[in-house]
Amino acid sequence: MRYPIDKTMSVTHQLRCTNCGVKIGAETIPSDFRCPDCKGLYEVIYPWSEGWEKSTSTEVRLPNPGGLRHLWQERKTSTLSIDQSGVWRFREMLPFLGDVEKSVTLREGNTPLYELPRSAEIAGVDWLLAKHQGMNPTGSFKDCGMTAALSVAVERGFEWVACASTGNTSAAMAAYAARAGLRSIVFIPEGKIAWGKLSQSMDYGALTIQLKTDFDGCLKLLTKLVQQFPIYLLNSVNPYRLEGQKTPAIEILEQLEWQVPEHLVVPGGNLGNSSALGKGFLEMKHLGLISRVPKISVIQAQGANPLYRWFGDSNREMQPVAAETRATAIRIGNPASWLKASRVIEETGGWCEQVSEQEIALAKAQIGAEGIGCEPASAVTLAGLKKLVAAGRVTREERVVLLLTGHTLKDPQFTIDYHKGELLTPSEIAGATDLERAQSDALRKPPVVLEADEAVIIKALKQRMAAVESR
Ligand code: F0G
Repeated sequence: MRYPIDKTMSVTHQLRCTNCGVKIGAETIPSDFRCPDCKGLYEVIYPWSEGWEKSTSTEVRLPNPGGLRHLWQERKTSTLSIDQSGVWRFREMLPFLGDVEKSVTLREGNTPLYELPRSAEIAGVDWLLAKHQGMNPTGSFKDCGMTAALSVAVERGFEWVACASTGNTSAAMAAYAARAGLRSIVFIPEGKIAWGKLSQSMDYGALTIQLKTDFDGCLKLLTKLVQQFPIYLLNSVNPYRLEGQKTPAIEILEQLEWQVPEHLVVPGGNLGNSSALGKGFLEMKHLGLISRVPKISVIQAQGANPLYRWFGDSNREMQPVAAETRATAIRIGNPASWLKASRVIEETGGWCEQVSEQEIALAKAQIGAEGIGCEPASAVTLAGLKKLVAAGRVTREERVVLLLTGHTLKDPQFTIDYHKGELLTPSEIAGATDLERAQSDALRKPPVVLEADEAVIIKALKQRMAAVESR
């Protein structure tokens, strides 16, 4: 199928509507990042992408896979900021900036891939890894997307940037805007974001506006405002965000010496991240860097599960839901990138699962007990993996990577409430199995309050030690 092409199209990249397929030049992208004809979202394509249509006589050369791997490895020893960035080190995969040396970077990416042997045993797989995107400069995966899109804002001469957020996007945007000397505006749902995140956007100098609505309401309002003011929108509807967020897929493969895992399990909120990672893997396959892609599965909280419902609906209709979950990062009922994410699940052969509040809390404590903190929204991955294994969708010998999206210190109140036994309602606890209740009881470590008296402390310690030995 051939689509119309805008004659002003840039030769470094084009934007293609993921709904109707129309391609436009980067210069003509609407401020809400939606196709004027069908309201679909755009994706960035390059001369080497599938579906690129040549509007000039330039020869299209595919980057050489062996050469790329070598170059990316070599850059690890460089002192240049763009080489030290875990996004721009892979710049051949996202060549959309006029001058990449002017990119705004906090040396994002470069995040660890940890083994989770105890969680593997709990979930019923032999080999489980966690790609911890919470180890980014502002504590979440959003930094990888923000360096990309905010650099575009700078290149296009914007002075103001804005986003609607459940907290992490706003923290990342405020930090990168501050680095670049831009002014930033944050729209957040009042009372529904974690304090760690709110404090970050204030610290980085954003104008923080709390609205008496949810995330979906914030994004809707902001989308209208950016059409009236010269403000650059930095939500994941901005296709350049996803270009940065695809780079952890490359990092995972580098860290596994280019052995492709069988599964990648990702939390789903507005569904930009799963879309981005899928794009990354599929592009690497297209370029010959890998011969197959992992199955990408998306996990949602039961109270914010529109994609899960869509997945199980024979009519395949996306119905927004009124979202409610303590994993506030993914408290989203009308995900903007649902079409992109659903295609990634279908193209890679993945699944969509939902998990309860109780399952999220337990999985978070289980990951934490391995010395790796993450925020509740990240823990849906382990909770979802347990279900995928139980349903036979992931087998024991298959290699699985969980995408941990945020740092545990983003939402310390959740953790404190869990350990004090104040997080879940009696009916949520009643919904757990006996095994889950026993696992949770063993993991909860509420603080012990004692008199500042040596004898009292020794007595208490002896009791604890005896209890541990008798197990
Ligand atoms: N995990 C965390 C920690 C998040 O902050 C988010 C999204 C997600 C998962 C879901 O990713 O939206 O790409 O599917 N947070 C956004 C925000 C919405 O505003 O910070 P997604």
